[in-house]
Amino acid sequence: MRMLVTGGAGFIGANFVHQTVREHPDVEVTVLDALTYAGDERSLAPVADAVTFVRGDIAEADVVDGLVAATDVVVHFAAESHNDNSLHDPWPFVRTNVLGTYQLLEAVRRHGVRYHHISTDEVYGDLELDDPERFTPETPYNPSSPYSSTKASSDLLVRAWARSFGVQATLSNCSNNYGPYQHVEKFIPRQVTNVLDGVRPKLYGTGENVRDWIHVEDHNSAVWTILEKGRAGETYLIGADGEKDNRTVVETILELMGQEPDAYDLVTDRPGHDLRYAIDATKLRTELGWEPRYTTFRDGLAATVEWYRANEAWWRPQKDATERRYTELGR
Ligand code: NAD
Ligand code: TYD
Repeated sequence: MRMLVTGGAGFIGANFVHQTVREHPDVEVTVLDALTYAGDERSLAPVADAVTFVRGDIAEADVVDGLVAATDVVVHFAAESHNDNSLHDPWPFVRTNVLGTYQLLEAVRRHGVRYHHISTDEVYGDLELDDPERFTPETPYNPSSPYSSTKASSDLLVRAWARSFGVQATLSNCSNNYGPYQHVEKFIPRQVTNVLDGVRPKLYGTGENVRDWIHVEDHNSAVWTILEKGRAGETYLIGADGEKDNRTVVETILELMGQEPDAYDLVTDRPGHDLRYAIDATKLRTELGWEPRYTTFRDGLAATVEWYRANEAWWRPQKDATERRYTELGR
Protein backbone atom coordinates (compact mmCIF):
# COMPACT_ATOMS: atom_id res chain seq x y z
CA MET A 1 0.00 0.00 0.00
CA ARG A 2 1.18 3.52 -0.86
CA MET A 3 0.40 6.17 1.77
CA LEU A 4 0.70 9.95 1.57
CA VAL A 5 1.10 11.53 5.02
CA THR A 6 0.62 15.31 5.06
CA GLY A 7 2.27 17.18 7.95
CA GLY A 8 4.58 14.23 8.58
CA ALA A 9 7.37 16.51 9.84
CA GLY A 10 5.14 17.86 12.62
CA PHE A 11 4.61 16.40 16.09
CA ILE A 12 1.83 13.84 15.59
CA GLY A 13 2.59 13.21 11.90
CA ALA A 14 6.26 12.36 12.59
CA ASN A 15 5.29 9.98 15.40
CA PHE A 16 2.72 8.42 13.02
CA VAL A 17 5.40 7.88 10.39
CA HIS A 18 7.72 6.29 12.99
CA GLN A 19 4.92 3.96 14.13
CA THR A 20 3.99 3.09 10.54
CA VAL A 21 7.56 2.22 9.53
CA ARG A 22 7.97 0.13 12.72
CA GLU A 23 4.65 -1.71 12.68
CA HIS A 24 3.54 -1.72 9.02
CA PRO A 25 6.75 -2.26 7.02
CA ASP A 26 4.76 -3.18 3.88
CA VAL A 27 3.49 0.43 3.57
CA GLU A 28 5.36 2.81 1.23
CA VAL A 29 5.25 6.20 2.97
CA THR A 30 5.56 9.59 1.26
CA VAL A 31 5.52 12.67 3.49
CA LEU A 32 4.24 16.01 2.15
CA ASP A 33 5.17 18.87 4.47
CA ALA A 34 5.80 22.59 3.92
CA LEU A 35 8.30 22.73 6.83
CA THR A 36 6.72 25.78 8.43
CA TYR A 37 8.13 26.94 11.79
CA ALA A 38 6.34 23.86 13.26
CA GLY A 39 7.81 21.25 10.91
CA ASP A 40 11.27 19.76 11.36
CA GLU A 41 12.75 17.25 8.95
CA ARG A 42 15.05 16.07 11.76
CA SER A 43 11.99 14.49 13.41
CA LEU A 44 12.04 11.98 10.55
CA ALA A 45 15.82 11.31 10.69
CA PRO A 46 15.44 7.88 12.39
CA VAL A 47 13.22 6.68 9.49
CA ALA A 48 14.68 8.75 6.66
CA ASP A 49 15.80 5.71 4.67
CA ALA A 50 12.30 4.20 4.74
CA VAL A 51 10.36 7.32 3.71
CA THR A 52 10.14 9.66 0.70
CA PHE A 53 10.06 13.30 1.80
CA VAL A 54 8.52 16.04 -0.38
CA ARG A 55 8.61 19.66 0.73
CA GLY A 56 5.43 21.35 -0.48
CA ASP A 57 2.29 23.22 0.41
CA ILE A 58 -1.10 21.42 0.65
CA ALA A 59 -2.88 24.62 -0.40
CA GLU A 60 -1.28 24.43 -3.87
CA ALA A 61 -3.41 22.29 -6.21
CA ASP A 62 -0.60 21.24 -8.54
CA VAL A 63 1.65 20.09 -5.66
CA VAL A 64 -1.15 18.00 -4.20
CA ASP A 65 -2.57 16.53 -7.41
CA GLY A 66 0.47 14.58 -8.60
CA LEU A 67 1.18 13.12 -5.16
CA VAL A 68 -2.44 12.09 -4.59
CA ALA A 69 -2.59 10.51 -8.07
CA ALA A 70 0.34 8.27 -7.05
CA THR A 71 -1.03 6.99 -3.72
CA ASP A 72 -3.67 4.61 -2.34
CA VAL A 73 -4.47 6.50 0.86
CA VAL A 74 -4.00 10.02 2.23
CA VAL A 75 -3.66 10.58 5.99
CA HIS A 76 -4.02 14.32 6.53
CA PHE A 77 -2.23 15.74 9.59
CA ALA A 78 -0.89 19.03 8.12
CA ALA A 79 -2.34 22.08 9.84
CA GLU A 80 -1.61 25.29 11.63
CA SER A 81 -2.15 23.86 15.10
CA HIS A 82 -1.56 26.41 17.88
CA ASN A 83 -4.44 28.40 19.41
CA ASP A 84 -2.25 31.25 20.69
CA ASN A 85 -0.84 31.82 17.20
CA SER A 86 -4.34 31.77 15.70
CA LEU A 87 -5.38 34.61 18.02
CA HIS A 88 -2.42 36.65 16.79
CA ASP A 89 -2.78 35.98 13.03
CA PRO A 90 -5.67 33.79 11.81
CA TRP A 91 -4.87 33.92 8.07
CA PRO A 92 -2.41 30.95 7.87
CA PHE A 93 -5.04 28.91 9.72
CA VAL A 94 -7.73 29.69 7.14
CA ARG A 95 -5.34 29.06 4.28
CA THR A 96 -3.79 25.78 5.44
CA ASN A 97 -6.64 24.26 7.43
CA VAL A 98 -9.53 25.19 5.13
CA LEU A 99 -8.06 25.76 1.65
CA GLY A 100 -5.43 23.03 2.14
CA THR A 101 -8.08 20.48 3.10
CA TYR A 102 -10.20 21.58 0.13
CA GLN A 103 -7.31 20.94 -2.28
CA LEU A 104 -6.72 17.47 -0.81
CA LEU A 105 -10.43 16.60 -0.99
CA GLU A 106 -10.65 17.67 -4.62
CA ALA A 107 -7.57 15.58 -5.43
CA VAL A 108 -8.81 12.43 -3.65
CA ARG A 109 -12.17 12.90 -5.41
CA ARG A 110 -10.50 13.16 -8.84
CA HIS A 111 -8.30 10.13 -8.27
CA GLY A 112 -10.63 7.92 -6.18
CA VAL A 113 -8.21 7.74 -3.25
CA ARG A 114 -9.10 6.76 0.36
CA TYR A 115 -8.75 9.70 2.80
CA HIS A 116 -8.41 9.96 6.57
CA HIS A 117 -8.86 13.37 8.19
CA ILE A 118 -7.13 14.17 11.50
CA SER A 119 -9.02 16.65 13.64
CA THR A 120 -9.45 17.84 17.19
CA ASP A 121 -12.06 17.69 19.95
CA GLU A 122 -11.83 21.51 20.06
CA VAL A 123 -14.43 21.66 17.25
CA TYR A 124 -17.05 20.96 19.96
CA GLY A 125 -16.19 24.05 22.01
CA ASP A 126 -15.80 23.54 25.75
CA LEU A 127 -17.57 21.96 28.74
CA GLU A 128 -18.22 23.24 32.25
CA LEU A 129 -15.88 21.81 34.89
CA ASP A 130 -18.75 19.97 36.60
CA ASP A 131 -20.60 18.84 33.45
CA PRO A 132 -21.11 15.06 33.67
CA GLU A 133 -21.28 14.88 29.85
CA ARG A 134 -18.28 14.36 27.57
CA PHE A 135 -17.97 14.99 23.81
CA THR A 136 -19.52 12.31 21.57
CA PRO A 137 -19.80 12.18 17.75
CA GLU A 138 -23.31 13.68 18.18
CA THR A 139 -22.17 16.79 20.12
CA PRO A 140 -22.96 19.94 18.07
CA TYR A 141 -20.00 21.85 16.66
CA ASN A 142 -19.33 25.08 18.60
CA PRO A 143 -15.68 26.09 18.09
CA SER A 144 -14.24 29.05 20.04
CA SER A 145 -10.96 30.12 18.42
CA PRO A 146 -9.70 30.78 14.89
CA TYR A 147 -7.78 27.47 15.19
CA SER A 148 -10.76 25.36 16.22
CA SER A 149 -13.14 27.11 13.81
CA THR A 150 -10.86 26.38 10.85
CA LYS A 151 -10.55 22.74 11.97
CA ALA A 152 -14.36 22.59 12.25
CA SER A 153 -14.66 24.07 8.75
CA SER A 154 -12.32 21.43 7.36
CA ASP A 155 -14.28 18.63 9.07
CA LEU A 156 -17.51 19.89 7.49
CA LEU A 157 -15.88 19.94 4.06
CA VAL A 158 -14.85 16.29 4.56
CA ARG A 159 -18.37 15.27 5.57
CA ALA A 160 -19.86 17.06 2.55
CA TRP A 161 -17.34 15.52 0.12
CA ALA A 162 -18.12 12.06 1.55
CA ARG A 163 -21.86 12.52 1.25
CA SER A 164 -22.10 14.48 -2.02
CA PHE A 165 -19.25 12.94 -3.99
CA GLY A 166 -18.88 9.54 -2.32
CA VAL A 167 -15.29 10.24 -1.25
CA GLN A 168 -14.08 7.29 0.88
CA ALA A 169 -13.29 9.42 3.91
CA THR A 170 -13.09 8.81 7.65
CA LEU A 171 -12.60 11.46 10.33
CA SER A 172 -11.15 11.40 13.82
CA ASN A 173 -11.32 14.07 16.52
CA CYS A 174 -8.71 13.57 19.21
CA SER A 175 -8.01 15.20 22.56
CA ASN A 176 -4.70 16.85 23.61
CA ASN A 177 -1.60 14.82 22.71
CA TYR A 178 1.74 14.64 24.52
CA GLY A 179 4.97 12.80 23.76
CA PRO A 180 8.28 13.24 21.90
CA TYR A 181 8.86 15.73 19.05
CA GLN A 182 6.17 18.21 20.20
CA HIS A 183 7.01 21.86 19.49
CA VAL A 184 8.16 23.86 22.55
CA GLU A 185 5.30 26.34 22.05
CA LYS A 186 2.82 23.73 23.37
CA PHE A 187 1.94 23.46 27.08
CA ILE A 188 3.87 20.39 28.26
CA PRO A 189 7.10 20.87 26.23
CA ARG A 190 7.13 24.58 27.11
CA GLN A 191 7.06 23.87 30.84
CA VAL A 192 9.55 20.97 30.69
CA THR A 193 12.07 23.01 28.69
CA ASN A 194 11.49 26.03 30.95
CA VAL A 195 12.42 23.94 34.00
CA LEU A 196 15.48 22.58 32.14
CA ASP A 197 16.45 26.24 31.51
CA GLY A 198 15.92 27.21 35.16
CA VAL A 199 12.76 29.20 34.29
CA ARG A 200 9.47 28.81 36.20
CA PRO A 201 6.52 27.20 34.32
CA LYS A 202 3.77 29.58 33.15
CA LEU A 203 0.15 28.73 33.94
CA TYR A 204 -2.54 30.69 32.11
CA GLY A 205 -5.22 32.27 34.32
CA THR A 206 -5.88 30.21 37.43
CA GLY A 207 -4.67 26.88 36.03
CA GLU A 208 -8.10 25.30 36.49
CA ASN A 209 -8.66 24.55 32.78
CA VAL A 210 -8.93 20.84 32.03
CA ARG A 211 -7.47 18.96 29.06
CA ASP A 212 -7.99 15.25 28.28
CA TRP A 213 -4.43 14.01 27.72
CA ILE A 214 -3.53 11.11 25.42
CA HIS A 215 -0.07 9.83 24.51
CA VAL A 216 0.70 10.45 20.83
CA GLU A 217 1.39 6.72 20.28
CA ASP A 218 -2.17 5.98 21.39
CA HIS A 219 -3.61 8.62 19.06
CA ASN A 220 -1.69 7.08 16.19
CA SER A 221 -2.62 3.47 17.00
CA ALA A 222 -6.25 4.64 16.96
CA VAL A 223 -5.73 6.22 13.53
CA TRP A 224 -4.35 2.88 12.30
CA THR A 225 -7.38 1.07 13.76
CA ILE A 226 -9.68 3.45 11.85
CA LEU A 227 -7.68 2.99 8.63
CA GLU A 228 -8.04 -0.79 8.97
CA LYS A 229 -11.57 -1.12 10.35
CA GLY A 230 -13.34 2.26 10.10
CA ARG A 231 -16.42 2.78 7.93
CA ALA A 232 -16.38 5.42 5.17
CA GLY A 233 -18.24 8.61 6.11
CA GLU A 234 -17.92 7.92 9.86
CA THR A 235 -16.44 10.09 12.61
CA TYR A 236 -14.54 8.53 15.51
CA LEU A 237 -13.57 10.35 18.70
CA ILE A 238 -10.14 9.42 20.10
CA GLY A 239 -9.40 9.79 23.81
CA ALA A 240 -7.95 7.79 26.68
CA ASP A 241 -9.82 9.08 29.77
CA GLY A 242 -6.92 11.38 30.67
CA GLU A 243 -8.63 14.47 32.13
CA LYS A 244 -6.28 16.65 34.22
CA ASP A 245 -6.36 20.32 35.13
CA ASN A 246 -3.37 22.36 34.00
CA ARG A 247 -2.22 23.03 37.55
CA THR A 248 -1.98 19.29 38.25
CA VAL A 249 0.03 18.77 35.06
CA VAL A 250 2.51 21.50 36.03
CA GLU A 251 2.79 20.18 39.58
CA THR A 252 3.52 16.68 38.24
CA ILE A 253 6.19 18.03 35.86
CA LEU A 254 7.81 19.95 38.74
CA GLU A 255 7.76 16.88 40.97
CA LEU A 256 9.19 14.62 38.24
CA MET A 257 11.96 17.19 37.69
CA GLY A 258 12.87 17.51 41.38
CA GLN A 259 11.37 21.00 41.95
CA GLU A 260 9.00 22.38 44.58
CA PRO A 261 5.37 21.76 43.49
CA ASP A 262 4.46 25.49 43.69
CA ALA A 263 7.48 26.75 41.69
CA TYR A 264 5.34 28.13 38.83
CA ASP A 265 3.94 31.55 37.83
CA LEU A 266 0.35 32.44 36.98
CA VAL A 267 0.32 34.61 33.82
CA THR A 268 -2.31 36.50 31.79
CA ASP A 269 -5.03 34.17 30.54
CA ARG A 270 -5.56 33.32 26.86
CA PRO A 271 -8.56 35.28 25.45
CA GLY A 272 -11.57 32.98 24.99
CA HIS A 273 -9.68 30.16 26.78
CA ASP A 274 -11.74 26.93 26.56
CA LEU A 275 -12.47 25.65 30.06
CA ARG A 276 -12.61 21.88 29.65
CA TYR A 277 -12.37 19.19 26.98
CA ALA A 278 -13.37 15.57 27.59
CA ILE A 279 -13.80 12.72 25.10
CA ASP A 280 -16.17 9.77 25.21
CA ALA A 281 -14.37 7.23 22.99
CA THR A 282 -16.99 4.47 23.41
CA LYS A 283 -17.63 4.18 19.66
CA LEU A 284 -13.95 3.62 18.86
CA ARG A 285 -13.53 1.15 21.72
CA THR A 286 -16.69 -0.91 21.17
CA GLU A 287 -17.17 -0.78 17.37
CA LEU A 288 -13.50 -1.01 16.38
CA GLY A 289 -12.00 -2.68 19.46
CA TRP A 290 -9.26 -0.05 20.06
CA GLU A 291 -7.57 0.24 23.47
CA PRO A 292 -4.85 2.69 24.56
CA ARG A 293 -1.44 1.27 25.50
CA TYR A 294 -0.35 4.15 27.78
CA THR A 295 -2.72 3.91 30.72
CA THR A 296 -0.74 5.95 33.27
CA PHE A 297 -0.36 9.65 32.48
CA ARG A 298 2.41 10.00 35.05
CA ASP A 299 4.56 7.30 33.39
CA GLY A 300 3.98 8.74 29.91
CA LEU A 301 4.82 12.20 31.22
CA ALA A 302 7.99 10.94 32.93
CA ALA A 303 9.13 9.35 29.64
CA THR A 304 8.36 12.61 27.82
CA VAL A 305 10.37 14.65 30.35
CA GLU A 306 13.29 12.26 29.81
CA TRP A 307 12.96 12.62 26.03
CA TYR A 308 13.27 16.43 26.26
CA ARG A 309 16.19 16.08 28.67
CA ALA A 310 18.00 13.75 26.23
CA ASN A 311 17.13 15.70 23.05
CA GLU A 312 18.06 19.29 23.79
CA ALA A 313 19.70 19.54 20.34
CA TRP A 314 16.25 18.95 18.81
CA TRP A 315 14.31 21.64 20.74
CA ARG A 316 17.00 24.24 21.55
CA PRO A 317 16.91 26.01 18.13
CA GLN A 318 13.18 26.86 18.60
CA LYS A 319 13.22 27.85 22.26
CA ASP A 320 14.34 31.51 22.26
CA ALA A 321 12.10 32.60 19.39
CA THR A 322 9.13 30.84 20.99
CA GLU A 323 9.65 32.54 24.35
CA ARG A 324 10.09 35.92 22.59
CA ARG A 325 6.67 35.41 20.94
CA TYR A 326 5.14 34.62 24.34
CA THR A 327 6.74 37.70 25.89
CA GLU A 328 5.07 39.84 23.17
CA LEU A 329 1.73 38.19 24.04
CA GLY A 330 2.29 38.83 27.76
CA ARG A 331 2.17 35.09 28.48
P1 NAD B 1 2.24 20.53 14.31
O1 NAD B 1 2.03 22.00 14.30
O2 NAD B 1 3.29 19.95 15.22
O3 NAD B 1 2.60 20.02 12.84
C1 NAD B 1 1.94 20.50 11.71
C2 NAD B 1 2.76 20.11 10.48
O4 NAD B 1 2.04 20.56 9.31
C3 NAD B 1 4.15 20.76 10.44
O5 NAD B 1 5.13 19.80 10.08
C4 NAD B 1 4.01 21.83 9.36
O6 NAD B 1 5.22 22.09 8.67
C5 NAD B 1 2.98 21.21 8.44
N1 NAD B 1 2.24 22.20 7.65
C6 NAD B 1 1.67 23.36 8.12
N2 NAD B 1 1.12 24.03 7.07
C7 NAD B 1 1.33 23.28 5.95
C8 NAD B 1 0.99 23.43 4.58
N3 NAD B 1 0.31 24.51 4.14
N4 NAD B 1 1.35 22.46 3.72
C9 NAD B 1 2.03 21.37 4.15
N5 NAD B 1 2.41 21.18 5.43
C10 NAD B 1 2.05 22.12 6.32
O7 NAD B 1 0.81 19.89 14.61
P2 NAD B 1 0.42 18.56 15.39
O8 NAD B 1 0.26 18.88 16.82
O9 NAD B 1 1.30 17.45 14.95
O10 NAD B 1 -1.05 18.32 14.81
C11 NAD B 1 -1.26 17.50 13.66
C12 NAD B 1 -2.76 17.38 13.39
O11 NAD B 1 -3.40 16.83 14.53
C13 NAD B 1 -3.44 18.73 13.13
O12 NAD B 1 -4.39 18.55 12.11
C14 NAD B 1 -4.11 19.05 14.45
O13 NAD B 1 -5.26 19.86 14.25
C15 NAD B 1 -4.48 17.66 14.93
N6 NAD B 1 -4.61 17.49 16.39
C16 NAD B 1 -3.59 17.88 17.23
C17 NAD B 1 -3.70 17.66 18.60
C18 NAD B 1 -2.58 18.02 19.55
O14 NAD B 1 -2.73 17.85 20.77
N7 NAD B 1 -1.42 18.48 19.08
C19 NAD B 1 -4.87 17.06 19.11
C20 NAD B 1 -5.87 16.67 18.22
C21 NAD B 1 -5.73 16.89 16.87
P1 TYD C 1 -1.92 23.99 24.41
O1 TYD C 1 -0.80 23.02 24.51
O2 TYD C 1 -1.70 25.28 23.71
O3 TYD C 1 -3.14 23.17 23.76
P2 TYD C 1 -4.70 23.61 23.51
O4 TYD C 1 -4.83 25.07 23.55
O5 TYD C 1 -4.93 23.07 22.12
O6 TYD C 1 -5.49 22.89 24.55
O7 TYD C 1 -2.44 24.32 25.88
C1 TYD C 1 -2.93 23.32 26.75
C2 TYD C 1 -3.52 24.01 27.98
O8 TYD C 1 -2.45 24.63 28.70
C3 TYD C 1 -4.49 25.13 27.66
O9 TYD C 1 -5.50 25.14 28.67
C4 TYD C 1 -3.65 26.39 27.74
C5 TYD C 1 -2.65 26.05 28.83
N1 TYD C 1 -1.31 26.68 28.75
C6 TYD C 1 -0.74 27.24 29.91
O10 TYD C 1 -1.35 27.28 31.00
N2 TYD C 1 0.53 27.75 29.82
C7 TYD C 1 1.24 27.73 28.66
O11 TYD C 1 2.39 28.21 28.63
C8 TYD C 1 0.64 27.15 27.48
C9 TYD C 1 1.40 27.14 26.16
C10 TYD C 1 -0.65 26.63 27.57
